[in-house]
Amino acid sequence: MMKTKIKTAGHAFLILPAVLACVQLAGCARSGKTEETAAVDAFDNLISVGFSQLGSESVWRSANTVSFQETFTRENGYFLLYENARQKQENQIKAIRSFISQRVDYIVFSPVTETGWDTVLKEAREAGIPVITSDRQVVLDRDSGDGLVSAWVGGDMAAEGYKAAQWLRENTKEDEKLNIVVLTGTEGSSAALGRSEGFHSISDTMENWNILEEKCGDFTLAKGQEIMEYYLDTYPDINVLVSQNDDMTFGAIEAMRSRDIEPGTDIIIISFDAVREALEMVRDGFINVDVECSPLLGPYVDELIRKMENGGQIEQSNPVDELVFTADNVKEYLESRTY
Ligand code: AHR
Repeated sequence: MMKTKIKTAGHAFLILPAVLACVQLAGCARSGKTEETAAVDAFDNLISVGFSQLGSESVWRSANTVSFQETFTRENGYFLLYENARQKQENQIKAIRSFISQRVDYIVFSPVTETGWDTVLKEAREAGIPVITSDRQVVLDRDSGDGLVSAWVGGDMAAEGYKAAQWLRENTKEDEKLNIVVLTGTEGSSAALGRSEGFHSISDTMENWNILEEKCGDFTLAKGQEIMEYYLDTYPDINVLVSQNDDMTFGAIEAMRSRDIEPGTDIIIISFDAVREALEMVRDGFINVDVECSPLLGPYVDELIRKMENGGQIEQSNPVDELVFTADNVKEYLESRTY
């Protein structure tokens, strides 16, 4: 595995949020310091991290945001600049540029799509700011993309898709004909592409599995419901739903229930994420299997940054451990699920 030696950026701290500037104004006047030097004094020892979140489309995403906000606190030695891109790559690029101009020490982002990042990441490199991707991954230009991302940490999406198909293979008869519909996540995202790739690596070899259609539900409940309604109107003989996240699954279950179809019994449901509400549905038999994708990535990114700060070596690729939940094992994990 490739290792990357990282140097700390060592920037002067130029962040001067308006609110803090106002709060400090009175004190500045008393001490005779300018606003800027007061801010530098106050935050000089903190590590500044610009975090561009891709949006707030799902329960998983909210838990992921909270994980960052709870990890990158002043008590832990950080100054966090948080931006929500509302599912738009252009907003993420804007946020990254603003982090660069504020000379943060580290940039962390969860890329909404895989491609289109080369230019802005080169700007970060020119500014000497290390970039970490969390959750999703980027695909960079083969000739010039090396070293633009110091490290990635998140779930191995292709492995998740593979585990889903493996469960289906192990829990259905070999000669059973299965009509499958798929709800895929955001187009061009490594989460959707990886899960599809992993699932197809098995499904393509299964003669009796018939994938009726795969449509994008954008990782949202509303879209999941809308597309499932379309599937149910179009295909009278669906046996399996593969839904690439829990929110779309919740929407699909609504659609099934409105047509008196029993989720988990009339149609096998395979989901991803394993948020608490979904695990309760696994326990109750409405979801048959839920492949975990952990949103609690803040502490892992913290660990990487601390290593870099100490001049240590870090792995470039850092997949986190993830489980597969069925009615057989879910109860022992439900209690401790915080999101
Ligand atoms: O990238 C992780 C995926 O994005 C999660 O499965 C989904 O819920 C989220 O929106």
